[in-house]
Amino acid sequence: MHDSRVATEGLVLLGCGKMGSAMLAGWLEAGLPANSVWVVDPNPSDWLSGTGVDLSGTLPEAPAVVLVAVKPQMMAQALPLLKRMGNGDTLFISVAAGITLAAFEQILGEQTPIVRAMPNTPAAISRGITAIVGNGAASAQHLGEAEALLQAVGEVVHVPDEGQIDAVTGVSGSGPAYVFHMIETLAQAGQAQGLDAETAMRLAKATVAGAGALAMASEETPEQLRINVTSPNGTTQAALEVLMDESTGFPSLMARAVKAAADRSRELANE
Ligand SMILES: NC(=O)c1ccc[n+]([C@@H]2O[C@H](COP(=O)([O-])OP(=O)(O)OC[C@H]3O[C@@H](n4cnc5c(N)ncnc54)[C@H](OP(=O)(O)O)[C@@H]3O)[C@@H](O)[C@H]2O)c1
Repeated sequence: MHDSRVATEGLVLLGCGKMGSAMLAGWLEAGLPANSVWVVDPNPSDWLSGTGVDLSGTLPEAPAVVLVAVKPQMMAQALPLLKRMGNGDTLFISVAAGITLAAFEQILGEQTPIVRAMPNTPAAISRGITAIVGNGAASAQHLGEAEALLQAVGEVVHVPDEGQIDAVTGVSGSGPAYVFHMIETLAQAGQAQGLDAETAMRLAKATVAGAGALAMASEETPEQLRINVTSPNGTTQAALEVLMDESTGFPSLMARAVKAAADRSRELANE
């Protein structure tokens, strides 16, 4: 990363909260020099002040990239500051939920290369997954630059059209919370079967983390991994008959949950 266009022409990070600082930490670790980064944030953390990035508020004329990581409701206030960088060579990348490419184009100009990204919270430990989509002015090279930057916090997938970002939000954006709730309810169910709270939570967390790691590491599909641990008439089969029930189990529950999130994402984009 030290010899990229970002290193030579600079990167402006607008908003350095949870997501912004996770990404910045990843870039610095990957070798991006601190003096290639300008950060705009009203209350820099001690960690941020210690990184050596520029916090003076004076920004370069035409940085390679502006990465927008403020809350969606702060966008109207924060973006006009960067308007002069629009319609040029500066690539804008936004991780803000619900803010469309068209909304950015309206503020920055239609010729501005813009990439919209939807990350998720495991980014905080570099285990996130981010989906990206570009506007008409974003070239394959711009998408490649966005991918390289976002890989600092995990995997990156490309989606062919912006409409799919709502589905991504329903699956991976909001998904970590579904898994956290699964851990909570698995632990509670263990308590109901006689375990103490601490042991039940330890078992539930390690089971979800271990099964997730196995699903990632294995060459077999999650379906096959499930079949492998389900002996006929055994304990797993007894539980799966409940969970896999077409109308009351995971199939319908998950479909409804993901649809609710995707629908809400569509609504937010239209507000
Ligand atoms: N966290 C996630 O997993 C996740 C997932 C997908 C998408 N996102 C998106 O990522 C964005 C950031 O989320 P987050 O969780 O990192 O939020 P956050 O922790 O609140 O970070 C936002 C940062 O922006 C700063 N800020 C506020 N107004 C500003 C302004 N006018 N100019 C520059 N900086 C400003 C905030 O400072 P103060 O705190 O002092 O106000 C804060 O440090 C959001 O748009 C969200 O939709 C987050």
